[in-house]
Amino acid sequence: MPDVLIIGAGGVGQVVTHKCAQVPEVFERIVLASRTEEKCRRIAGQIRRPIETARVDADKLPELVSLIERVRPALVINVALPYQDLSIMDACLQTGVDYLDTANYEPREEARFSYSWQWDYDQPFRNAGLMALLGSGFDPGVTNVFVAYALKHHFDTIEELDIIDCNAGDHGQPFATNFNPEINIREVTARGRYFENGAWVETDPLAVSREFDFPEGIGPRRIYLMYHEELESLTRHIAGIRRARFWMTFSDSYLTHLEVLRNVGMTRIDPVHYQGVDIVPLQFLKALLPDPGSLGPLTKGRTCIGCLVSGTRDGRPRRYYVYNICDHEAAYREVQSQAISYTTGVPAMIGAKMMLTGAWRGNGVFNMEQLDPDPFMDALNRHGLPWTETFL
Ligand SMILES: NC(=O)c1ccc[n+]([C@@H]2O[C@H](COP(=O)([O-])OP(=O)(O)OC[C@H]3O[C@@H](n4cnc5c(N)ncnc54)[C@H](OP(=O)(O)O)[C@@H]3O)[C@@H](O)[C@H]2O)c1
Repeated sequence: MPDVLIIGAGGVGQVVTHKCAQVPEVFERIVLASRTEEKCRRIAGQIRRPIETARVDADKLPELVSLIERVRPALVINVALPYQDLSIMDACLQTGVDYLDTANYEPREEARFSYSWQWDYDQPFRNAGLMALLGSGFDPGVTNVFVAYALKHHFDTIEELDIIDCNAGDHGQPFATNFNPEINIREVTARGRYFENGAWVETDPLAVSREFDFPEGIGPRRIYLMYHEELESLTRHIAGIRRARFWMTFSDSYLTHLEVLRNVGMTRIDPVHYQGVDIVPLQFLKALLPDPGSLGPLTKGRTCIGCLVSGTRDGRPRRYYVYNICDHEAAYREVQSQAISYTTGVPAMIGAKMMLTGAWRGNGVFNMEQLDPDPFMDALNRHGLPWTETFL
């Protein structure tokens, strides 16, 4: 039975470790490594099965290579930060091990994420007979699989796609982010971008918004257009798509705080020289904000993330909505994390399960929509993220 090495003991790493531990027939031995080993030990202490822990700085290739050579896993699950994607892929290539992550590479000094850097690893992974699965979280991840499932079962052509991410939960804090604050704020303050008629259209950050009526009692909420990484891969892999957009909800309090922080320069990612040291304002802000992990016991309410798809079937127009609803308190009861980490960590475990059981196999670098959606959709229902589909 395969061994797995999880790198990154943050909010998502905690959920992935819990969920892998729940599936002993696939994940026989689990090793959790991170920059701060104490965080790995704290997570291991929550789980009845033995979880081995290790310390690694995933920015340092030799450290990664010696850890992977010592553990000899069948798969590395990268749930550290996007900055570490390429060094961990390099280490997997050097040691002959498969790779999975939940967020695409982003250079530290520039708030720009793109699959291009990781797609460049396709040929080296093919040559080595290895598989890399990119973006196996919820969005990206499940949203890509939702689109592949819609195309496989309900559409001949997909023309319009709106991915809509709603966090209708409340943690009671004036300002906090539900996952790593640095990554979250870099994403939210970036210019908006969507795909239309073969070209990318740019907007000012969060400048486009509208109301969307969410199902199952969540009700109407304002959604804001943002650029998100799955748009890049879906517009490449779904032939004929005419428009693709990504939307997210934000509370008024979050937006007001963010505007002030941005106006005073606290979201800058370039170093500022202050009293003899260089300080990156956004990294300093991260140190002041609540640790997303601490929000678990405080957060109430639900998330609703789904895809609204328009296209044709048998020559007739069709409109379809597929979504998951996840309850923050139920997630906390199960794995001691709120639903944002839960909805990312469960698909990471399922992606790993797909690779280790051979349900998803191939040589090279893959986005989720390139693989058969059926076993993944089935696993979502069985591992805590059931989905609902409706025709509108
Ligand atoms: N696809 C999706 O739906 C989705 C949604 C949310 C998040 N994500 C992604 O999930 C990943 C994890 O997010 P998170 O919220 O769990 O973040 P987090 O709570 O900040 O955790 C990140 C962890 O990675 C560790 N780490 C950072 N740099 C490292 C390094 N150089 N070497 C080893 N470990 C390192 C950190 O260790 P220290 O604590 O010691 O710094 C921390 O434990 C991110 O890439 C995020 O973008 C994806």
